[in-house]
Amino acid sequence: MSEHAIHVLYMASAACFILALKWLSAVPTARRGVITGIIGMLLAVGGTLMLLTPEAQAHGWFHTYRWILIAFVVGAAIGVPMAMMPMTAVPQRTALSHAFGALAAGLVGTAEYYLRTPDLDRFTMGALGVEIILGFLTFTASLMAFGKLQEILPTRPIVYRMQNVVNLSVFAASVLIGAWLVAHPGHTGLFLVMIALALVFGVMLIIPIGGADMPTVIALLNSYAGLSACAMGFVLDNKLLIVAGALDGSSGLILSIIMCKAMNRSFTNVLFGGFGQVQTGGKAEQRTVRSASPEEAAAFLEAANSVMVVPGYGMAVAQAQHRVRDLFDQLTSRGVDVKFAIHPVAGRMPGHMNVLLAEAEIPYDKLVEMEDANIEMPQVDVALIIGANDVTNPAAREKKDSPIYGMPIIDVDKARTVMVIKRSMNPGFAGIDNDLYYYDKTLMLFGDAKDFVGKIVKVLEGGTS
Ligand code: TAP
Repeated sequence: MSEHAIHVLYMASAACFILALKWLSAVPTARRGVITGIIGMLLAVGGTLMLLTPEAQAHGWFHTYRWILIAFVVGAAIGVPMAMMPMTAVPQRTALSHAFGALAAGLVGTAEYYLRTPDLDRFTMGALGVEIILGFLTFTASLMAFGKLQEILPTRPIVYRMQNVVNLSVFAASVLIGAWLVAHPGHTGLFLVMIALALVFGVMLIIPIGGADMPTVIALLNSYAGLSACAMGFVLDNKLLIVAGALDGSSGLILSIIMCKAMNRSFTNVLFGGFGQVQTGGKAEQRTVRSASPEEAAAFLEAANSVMVVPGYGMAVAQAQHRVRDLFDQLTSRGVDVKFAIHPVAGRMPGHMNVLLAEAEIPYDKLVEMEDANIEMPQVDVALIIGANDVTNPAAREKKDSPIYGMPIIDVDKARTVMVIKRSMNPGFAGIDNDLYYYDKTLMLFGDAKDFVGKIVKVLEGGTS
């Protein structure tokens, strides 16, 4: 294939990536965005394989493509089982994907260094340095993030004195070596030290961060992997890699900023915070709550004109989305107006609730963003909270000393009746008590979300729970 045709393929691929990102940002177009992204990637891979056509014609197709074929089989053997992981494991699956992507960038950079030394010009060596440092640090950091999320490693933050100074010194040393290599690229020993420092820094970066903060960190690591790929594009003079890497780098950064804003946290608080540990040492509260049975809950829901469901992490853990769909069907068939209020950081990854509700085929137009849900809330008869906690905690509005103070929440306390499905009085991600549970208008529905919603559905179907 001519070089011109490959450029056209690359441009089409870049256009697909940009459109994919645009469409992925809204629920109704997200599916189209995914498909467009896949098409873009197919065009990119196809175009890149075509680059080898002249060599294949001269030396034989099998000879030219055999290593790529082997890598493809190995990659598919790892990738297909990874894609089968349950929805709740998506954050750690994403961490593993970043680890592999970043390792690939680091290894390509290493190969290019050895192939081209000592004839490396300064610009290429500079780009190589960025690629290597970001690639290898993202590799180990993503593996650590995976280990914490999978609970193979201790999830609690490990903090010690002068930690930030030590960490930044390691990073600064690798950058200084990179700068030195730009002027003296032939120092292969120093090149290896730079790689080792980047690998060590990746581990040290994650040690002080609690497991629960990993999703935000993963979005940031996504950004680093993208920037590494972008630098690789400069090294290989591949324009598509530059575009795709820059898109990846910037979208990852924007996503982590959105996540931090929605949690009312700063970047530094996430990266150095040690946040997300359950508060201990305080006196256990002796306040009482009102609890209700599935039959009572069904009676409230049936009698309501409008119900606002607020899903959260517990719905994902319980995999309750299909029972929630059954409940939606039961209530709408009785003329109840049922909507779903979606908090931007409900669950543990961006779009977590959207994906689960889409899986259960809940109509998109029934999903309401937080701001709109809050406008409707005073007119809502029942706010039904399913496995959500922090995103409904009024302390975010009222208690200045609360760790979540300032975080925007769904104002469920403004609904006429509040019902909360959760298993116990345990706190959520932020590790804090929720006053909402002690309000007069609140009914606690204690149980596993899937089980409890299933029981309500059974009552509505005419059986007993
Ligand atoms: P959380 O505040 O974590 O609360 C989840 C609640 O679900 C828990 O209180 C738990 O109570 C309950 N639960 C767990 N398993 C359950 C089950 N099987 N059945 C019923 N309930 C169950 O969740 P949220 O309200 O969705 O808030 C998300 C939190 O995560 C926020 O603080 C947010 O800042 C943080 N965060 C989010 C993200 C993204 S991007 N979404 C990323 C990082 C951090 P019991 O144990 O009593 O059942």
